[in-house]
Amino acid sequence: TTSGASAAAVEKGNYRHYMQKEIFEQPTVVAQTLRSYIRQSDNSVALPQIDFDLSAIKRITIVACGTSYYAGMVAKYWIEQFARVPVDIDVASEFRYRNPVLENGGLALFISQSGETADTLAALRHCKQAGQTIAVVVNVPTSSMAREADLLLPTHAGPEIGVASTKAFTCQLAVLAALAARLAVTKGQMDRTEEQDVVRHLLEAPAALNAALDHDDDIAAIAPLIAPARDVLYLGRGPDYPLAMEGALKLKEISYIHAEGYASGEMKHGPIALIDEAVPVIVLAPSGPLFEKTVSNMEEVRARGGQIVLISDREGLAEAGDGCLATIEMPKVHPLIAPLVYAVPVQLLAYHTACVKGTDVDQPRNLAKSVTVE
Ligand code: G6P
Repeated sequence: TTSGASAAAVEKGNYRHYMQKEIFEQPTVVAQTLRSYIRQSDNSVALPQIDFDLSAIKRITIVACGTSYYAGMVAKYWIEQFARVPVDIDVASEFRYRNPVLENGGLALFISQSGETADTLAALRHCKQAGQTIAVVVNVPTSSMAREADLLLPTHAGPEIGVASTKAFTCQLAVLAALAARLAVTKGQMDRTEEQDVVRHLLEAPAALNAALDHDDDIAAIAPLIAPARDVLYLGRGPDYPLAMEGALKLKEISYIHAEGYASGEMKHGPIALIDEAVPVIVLAPSGPLFEKTVSNMEEVRARGGQIVLISDREGLAEAGDGCLATIEMPKVHPLIAPLVYAVPVQLLAYHTACVKGTDVDQPRNLAKSVTVE
């Protein structure tokens, strides 16, 4: 079932596919989403009216499915780093059945584009029953999850038609970054200057997304190299590790190529056995303190004949771009917004690879926009 607006009501404009249009809308819709979470007058983070004590939250349980789950994984890094509040995260279909420990003072956070995904909604009701405070990040403000929440944190991505989620994801990240910062402020873990820094970096995201989109042609040129592959490996570290998984998911969903996302450092514990000339390895690695470690992981890949596509900024490419099958240059951005910016090349790579393969990008086989069965 397709929830929210119907495809017929939303124009494709000059784009070939809704997915392509939605990828290109990201600078606009992320800016639009940020506007409702940032108070421009004093550069502070502002959440909608909350009628519970945010500073009393002791633990956060995040539950979601698919792409929304990967947004949740990034949020775990941010919330723990900024607010020092412990975060659990589960895919919704596993959550209820493992009999999770839900203590008093817990906030249960559900992330969903549609607000209707059956497993996520069932998990929400389970948490409500267990006395948790319920927060939701949803794109459809009239959805079941929105109605049943104590705190509604809407994304303003506009209707998303392509089955594979793109713009909803980056908008979810924008909201989750704001939530992490707000929580950190109320917990006394972030002072005013730090909060203003976070706001400043978040406001840099739309321009950085545009700069990432400028590389569309380069990415389209790489797609024919990926299209013949049977397996593709995506690697990332820290908050870019969930992005590796999101990249792999996008490729699976629309090009039907088997792909796996792995933590760069974990590759040596298994996936390295798969590496040969036929398995492209997509490495997401902004330059920074962890870059060196990723470079050594790349050496391990190369020593086994692996073909690397390195996605990094100019600095990173200058250091480790030589000898790669291809490189994709990203703008140099603050680490906070890297997961938003690096979403663009993995979305475009999946998109163009699917186009090369001639698959139905907007309606991939066997998938639905909103999965309302468990
Ligand atoms: C389906 C879609 C995915 C989406 C997932 C979760 O599998 O094809 O793109 O990420 O559901 O959907 P939700 O609406 O809960 O974010």
